[in-house]
Amino acid sequence: MKKIWKKCLLCIICALLIAMPLAELRSACMAEAAGGNSAKTSKTGSALSVQLRIGKTNVTKKTCTMKAGTTKTIKATASKKISSVTYKSSNTKVASVSKKGTVRAKKAGTAKITATVKTKQGSKSAWVKIRVRAAQQAPDPQPGPATDESSILIVYFTRSGNTEKIADIISEKTGGKKVRLETVKAYPQDYDSLLDIAMEEKTGNARPELKTKIAHMENYDTVFVGYPIWHGDVPMAVLTFLEEYDFTGKKVIPFCSSGSSSPDTSFAHVKESAKGAEVSRGFWTTSAGLGNLATSVPAWLDGLGMTWNEKKEGAEENTMKVTAGGTTFTAALADNSSVTALKELLKKGPLTIRMSDYASMEKVGPIGTHLPQNDEQITTGAGDIILYQGDSLVIYYDTNSWNFTRIGKIEGVTKEELLKALGTGDVTVTFSLQQG
Ligand SMILES: Cc1cc2nc3c(=O)[nH]c(=O)nc-3n(C[C@H](O)[C@H](O)[C@H](O)COP(=O)(O)O)c2cc1C
Repeated sequence: MKKIWKKCLLCIICALLIAMPLAELRSACMAEAAGGNSAKTSKTGSALSVQLRIGKTNVTKKTCTMKAGTTKTIKATASKKISSVTYKSSNTKVASVSKKGTVRAKKAGTAKITATVKTKQGSKSAWVKIRVRAAQQAPDPQPGPATDESSILIVYFTRSGNTEKIADIISEKTGGKKVRLETVKAYPQDYDSLLDIAMEEKTGNARPELKTKIAHMENYDTVFVGYPIWHGDVPMAVLTFLEEYDFTGKKVIPFCSSGSSSPDTSFAHVKESAKGAEVSRGFWTTSAGLGNLATSVPAWLDGLGMTWNEKKEGAEENTMKVTAGGTTFTAALADNSSVTALKELLKKGPLTIRMSDYASMEKVGPIGTHLPQNDEQITTGAGDIILYQGDSLVIYYDTNSWNFTRIGKIEGVTKEELLKALGTGDVTVTFSLQQG
C-alpha cells in the first residue's frame, strides 16, 4: 500500500514539473526571494543567511550594551554577495545608526538595529538589540546575573510582610534590587475595611495610582513581581505596575502568598498584563508554608534554570570588567597594593588602553600613570592580567615566566576565546569596575 502511494506522489511531482515552464519555476523562486525576513532559497538551493558583527563578535539577535555618547560599528555579512545594506533603528532617540552601520548611543533605553541585506538572490534582515546605559548613571547597588550585564529587579506589594519574606530570599539568592510597591492612597489598617476596599477595587477594575516609581526600568532584564492574593487574584495595584512599564523582551517572574487560595488566577493575570514579557513559572506559598521559605524559595529559583550572582561578602569589589572587541570578560582581582591603586583609578571612570601584541603571547599597553609594584615570579596562562614595570597592563593569552605583578585573572577563558575578542595587532581594551 505504502509503495503505491509513493509511486503516486512521484507521478504528481513529475507532472507538475513538466507542466510548469522553466521560466515560471525560476520566477516563482525569485518572487519568494524578493521580500521579508525569513531565510530565502537561491537558484542553487542554498539559503541566504545574514550575520551582524561588532568588531569580531557575532551580535546577531543579541543584546549589546553601550554607554550614552559612545559609538560602535555594526558590520553585516551574508552567505551571498551583498549588493547593498540598509540599517534602521527602532528608536532613534535612544540609538541612531548611520548608512554605514555606525550606532550612536544617545540616551538610556533600548533600540533594535535592523540591517537589511540585498543580494541578487533576494533580501534578508537581521537585528541586534542595543541597550544604552546613561553616561552618568548611578552605580547599581546590586550586581546583575553572572551570564551577562543585565540586572534583576524584585518588585513586591505587601500588607503584613509575608510577601516581603519571599522577596528577601530572592534578593539574597539573585543579588536583585528590592523595591516595595506603595500606592499614593494608603490602604486602611483595619482588616475588614481593607477587605471591602480591595473588593471594590476588584469589581471596579481599578488601577490605584502608585507612589513607587522605577527610575530605569530599561536597565532590568528580569523582574520578579510579588504580591499577596487578594480575593483570589492579584491586587489591583500590582496591575497598575504591570501596565505602567514596558516589559517587552523582559523576563517576568511572579511570586505570591495567600491564606490558602490557589495562585493560578493571579499568575494568568500577571501574564496577561505584562505585555511582551516572557512570564516564568511563579512561586506560591500559603501561610502554613511560610516557615519553609529558606528552602522552598531557593529550590524554586534553582528550578528556573537561570544563573544568578549570589550576594557574596565583598564580591563586587574583587572583580573588574575587561571589554575588548565587543566582548566583556570578568576578571577576579588579586589582593595587593597594586590592585588597590588600580581600583582607586577605576573608581574615577573606566580606563581605556590601546594594547599591542607582543611575542605572540600577550597584549600590552600603557596605563598612563605609575602603580605600586608587587613583583613575584609568575608563569602566566590565558586570562592572566599583569602589571609590568608599574606602568603597563598586560593581558596574557599564552604562557610566559617573568618577575612581575599579578593584577587578576579572567577565569575560565581559553586562548582561542581571548584571541577572538582581542584580535590580531592593536586593540582597544577598557577596564572598569563591576559597579560601573
Ligand atoms: C484584602 C485581602 C484579601 C485577601 N484575600 C485572600 C484570598 O482570597 N485567599 C487567601 O487565601 N488569602 C487571602 N488573603 C490573605 C493574604 O493573601 C495572605 O495573608 C498573605 O500571605 C498576605 O501577604 P502579605 O503579608 O504580603 O500582605 C487576603 C488578605 C487581604 C488583606
